Amino acid sequence: MAQLNQSQTALITGASGGIGLELARLFARRKFNLVLVARTQEKLEEITRELSASGISVLSYTRDLSNPANAEDIYNDLRSLGIEIDYLVNNAGFGISGTETDIPWDRELQMLSLNMLTLTYFTKMFASDMASRGFGRIMNVGSTGSFQPGPYMAGYCASKAYVLHFSEAVNRELKGTGVIVTTLCPGVTDTGFHVTAQTESSTMFTKLSHASAREVAEYGFGLMMKGKSYGVHGLFNKLMVFSVRFSPRNLVTQIAAGLLKS
Ligand SMILES: NC(=O)c1ccc[n+]([C@@H]2O[C@H](COP(=O)([O-])OP(=O)(O)OC[C@H]3O[C@@H](n4cnc5c(N)ncnc54)[C@H](OP(=O)(O)O)[C@@H]3O)[C@@H](O)[C@H]2O)c1
Repeated sequence: MAQLNQSQTALITGASGGIGLELARLFARRKFNLVLVARTQEKLEEITRELSASGISVLSYTRDLSNPANAEDIYNDLRSLGIEIDYLVNNAGFGISGTETDIPWDRELQMLSLNMLTLTYFTKMFASDMASRGFGRIMNVGSTGSFQPGPYMAGYCASKAYVLHFSEAVNRELKGTGVIVTTLCPGVTDTGFHVTAQTESSTMFTKLSHASAREVAEYGFGLMMKGKSYGVHGLFNKLMVFSVRFSPRNLVTQIAAGLLKS
């Protein structure tokens, strides 16, 4: 489907489940056209059917975004179709648990590429187009893991620290252009994330309270619409990341290790 109708358009990566799917539903309810990206074709087809029923146009791309070349193809395809993105949600991401020396490099490379490189490419390209039109909103999904080192999820937490720092810096650079970059930092959320990351036996998963994907999506959607630079979902998570500022780094790293070890 190459033609989208005249209302504003949101592109959401990782829209086949979890937080991304709930965000897609929120945009659809407000009559935004959608461009959805994920790897699982059947899920995207089902979601496209569900969301199109609300009268919006939905275009989906079945692509593996851990290869940034696929992100370039999507960007170029949208340009050639004349589809302008007003809202961008870089949500697709995954984690890996284990010790750094045990995690296979090919899997880690996929994670780092998806969580950082594709997010950077989409932010760069769409922010530039948005700035030239004088309006745009970008939401990049970080984590409570963005705020401190994360032993047993070292690469994942570092990739989410990158998301937060990169997004806040670009947001500052874009001041006055009409484009705002928001970073959403969820804590433990009930999605497929923990199955993929194999964190279901960690203290973080078994002892900390869980949010639903819907709650986190609603919170993030609100942040984006209000033009906030970042937000941490949930009071406990807010207190936890705030306490990091006043605690010795060794202690913070030790506590994180206790929470993340599976
Ligand atoms: N759940 C949590 O506790 C939690 C906490 C903090 C931050 N986050 C962050 O929240 C974001 C959303 O995760 P979630 O919790 O909703 O997890 P999820 O249920 O596993 O959803 C991840 C989404 O990303 C897509 N995806 C994964 N790998 C992809 C790839 N290589 N190319 C394209 N799409 C890909 C998945 O679809 P396909 O499998 O169909 O590709 C799915 O739609 C992630 O950035 C995650 O790091 C989650």
